[in-house]
Amino acid sequence: MRGTVALALVVAAGASACAADDGPPGPPTPVDDRLPAGFPPMPVAEDNPTTAEGVALGRQLYYDARLSPDGSRACASCHFQDRSFSSTGVTGVLPHVNLAWSTFFLWDGRFTGTLEEAMIMEVEEFFGTDVERLKEPDLEDMFEAAFETREITTTRAAYALAQFQRTLVSGASPFDAYLEGDAGALSAAERRGMELFYSEDAECFHCHATRLMTDNLFHNIGLDADVTGTGRGPVSGRALDDGKWKTPTLRNVAVTGPYMHDDRFETLEEVVDFYAEGVVDSSTLDTLVPIGGYGLTAEQRADLVAFLRALTDESYLTDPALAPPR
Ligand code: HEC
Ligand code: HEC
Repeated sequence: MRGTVALALVVAAGASACAADDGPPGPPTPVDDRLPAGFPPMPVAEDNPTTAEGVALGRQLYYDARLSPDGSRACASCHFQDRSFSSTGVTGVLPHVNLAWSTFFLWDGRFTGTLEEAMIMEVEEFFGTDVERLKEPDLEDMFEAAFETREITTTRAAYALAQFQRTLVSGASPFDAYLEGDAGALSAAERRGMELFYSEDAECFHCHATRLMTDNLFHNIGLDADVTGTGRGPVSGRALDDGKWKTPTLRNVAVTGPYMHDDRFETLEEVVDFYAEGVVDSSTLDTLVPIGGYGLTAEQRADLVAFLRALTDESYLTDPALAPPR
């Protein structure tokens, strides 16, 4: 259950129902991406409208090891639902949540483009998917239902994955309930943490911005004194981008640890201690982050951590529609 601001995919009124028993299925069924309150409009590619069949195929592929040439792994091998589609096995696994709004992908943004292009990159370059391996009747049926052709291509596989990604929307945390008018959704400590988060005493909201809790841009927050040749710099070719990394969303952050691009912090307490007292100067340090940190008291730190934990959307982590297909 996803609550009142649920994202449930709703079959558009009047759309065709199931396929006949034999013969090709009818056209795929469009679905509405019903967004949580307060979210910006979701960009959707004109040539890849979200359909029930496309989402079903994308979900299948996400969990299907046939996507890798040697059958050894699926996307879900590193991206686990109960961790907001991140994991701890590999360093720096980014969660899959609200990526429909992203145009820069990966910690250093070395992939720029649309969600479709990002999925093509994942399929063709990262996985090196061999379409021959996908040519099995169950998948051919699903491709036909989604794209009205049994011909499997890496582009169509990526498009289906992009459609599934557009259903990975999380916006039903206690914080959201509070914003929607449920004053009791946050405890006193969580509310104090929220106020600090949105204040000039801690500045968090500038970068972890909007209801997405990220500006989808790059910043140096002062983790290291020597940032030469790290982060976005080598990607953009500009030294002024050294030490800058993509602002991660804070949605479900309680379950996406360890934290930062290199997993250097195990807990949210360590992250907040860093912001409070661990910020070091370097050539590209963001002006929003003071050298030496924000100087927060023990109580303020505990409040901030409490607020970060109130960004967990349990319904997202357990939604059966996002779990492995049966
Ligand atoms: C071996 C583990 C592993 C597998 C398997 C894997 N990923 Fe990832 N994924 C990662 C890591 C690690 C990162 C962060 C890497 C970086 O930023 O340099 C990441 C990042 C991403 C991102 C960028 C997210 C963002 O916020 O910018 C996307 C998109 C993504 N993965 C999609 C996929 C898809 C689609 C698949 C299946 C085709 C997949 N991943 C399979 C480990 C994995
Ligand atoms: C100048 C922009 C900026 C400000 C201000 C800022 N952050 Fe961040 N935050 C980032 C970036 C960029 C990262 C990733 C850095 C990295 O991995 O090297 C990050 C990482 C984090 C992480 C780790 C998330 C993860 O998944 O690894 C948490 C938690 C966090 N910030 C919370 C906060 C809090 C709380 C504040 C206010 C005290 C704050 N941030 C202020 C940009 C900012």
